Amino acid sequence: MIGHNGVPAAAAGRISLDPEMSVNRMGFGAMRLTGPGIWGEPNDPEECRRVLRRALELGVDFIDTADSYGPEVSERLIAEALHPYPAGLVIATKGGQVRPGPGQWVPEGRPEHLRAALEGSLRRLRLERIDLYQLHRPDPKVPFDESVGALVDMKREGKIRAIGVSNVNQQQLERARGMTAVVSVQNRYNLTDRDSEDVLQLCEKLGIAFIPWAPILGGEVEPESVRRIAGERGISTRQLALAWILAHSTQTLPIPGTASVAHLEENVAAAAVRLTPDEVQQLDSLSPAAGARGTRVSAKPASRGVTPGEGGRRG
Ligand SMILES: NC(=O)c1ccc[n+]([C@@H]2O[C@H](COP(=O)([O-])OP(=O)(O)OC[C@H]3O[C@@H](n4cnc5c(N)ncnc54)[C@H](OP(=O)(O)O)[C@@H]3O)[C@@H](O)[C@H]2O)c1
Repeated sequence: MIGHNGVPAAAAGRISLDPEMSVNRMGFGAMRLTGPGIWGEPNDPEECRRVLRRALELGVDFIDTADSYGPEVSERLIAEALHPYPAGLVIATKGGQVRPGPGQWVPEGRPEHLRAALEGSLRRLRLERIDLYQLHRPDPKVPFDESVGALVDMKREGKIRAIGVSNVNQQQLERARGMTAVVSVQNRYNLTDRDSEDVLQLCEKLGIAFIPWAPILGGEVEPESVRRIAGERGISTRQLALAWILAHSTQTLPIPGTASVAHLEENVAAAAVRLTPDEVQQLDSLSPAAGARGTRVSAKPASRGVTPGEGGRRG
């Protein structure tokens, strides 16, 4: 399955992050290029470097990472595998969480920490400016404006091209937008977790990218209808999950993550899957959020205090 310009990832079309920065709507999440618990070195670092190089061959031009993946390991592998970077590759990284140990994630949104985190990312990625720098998670101990303000200052200094936020609710997104141009939101979202449907709707209204993390139901129970439709179409359930995200909203930019070339190829091929309106509707109706589409306005915090853990609800 090949996209319009000959590469598979292009089949899903492009999305603009700013007027001069657009990417194919099938990205890659680099969190899995680490050890168990998103901690330390991966089992097979050479396969991880192959995954990164193969992603580019397949037309992926958006890679998501964070200083806290490893920590440091994911960013370092990206530079080892891909530097010097080809023109047009957007590496999005994040700051705002620290790692006491495997599977543990602690928000850290003080401006001095964010500044040190950004400097570390610049060094590891061998860049002078980060194309998209995202606040990883609001820190309840630090006023949100202070964390966003630090990113605004660093953008003014030329160290950040565009600012994104992650794990935010509608109010936090609007608050950040009151301080600076926000080009993307990265929240957990997939076929069976549509808690952020309201935030996606706001992104659609504002015309900014919504980057769903955990987009392929990693390790979760797959509803029977997902297995049935995937079987009828002759595609995997993961491909169906990705095809649904792409069809559900034109503002989505999924970033499925894997440490395997075979899984990467399978995931990127989903960019070319076209679901029928009936299939989209059946999949839409799987989640309770379905009935709320177009109507719900929520003030809930995006961070739900859930147990951190690999493949779970943090990262
Ligand atoms: N902003 C945040 O707070 C946050 C939180 C979590 C993640 N993220 C970002 O979102 C990205 C994606 O999230 P995620 O990695 O948690 O979830 P995901 O992409 O939905 O799922 C990844 C999991 O599924 C497996 N997998 C991937 N493709 C597969 C395939 N074709 N067949 C079978 N298994 C497959 C992977 O294992 P294998 O390696 O064995 O393929 C991995 O365990 C991350 O890489 C990271 O960049 C952001």
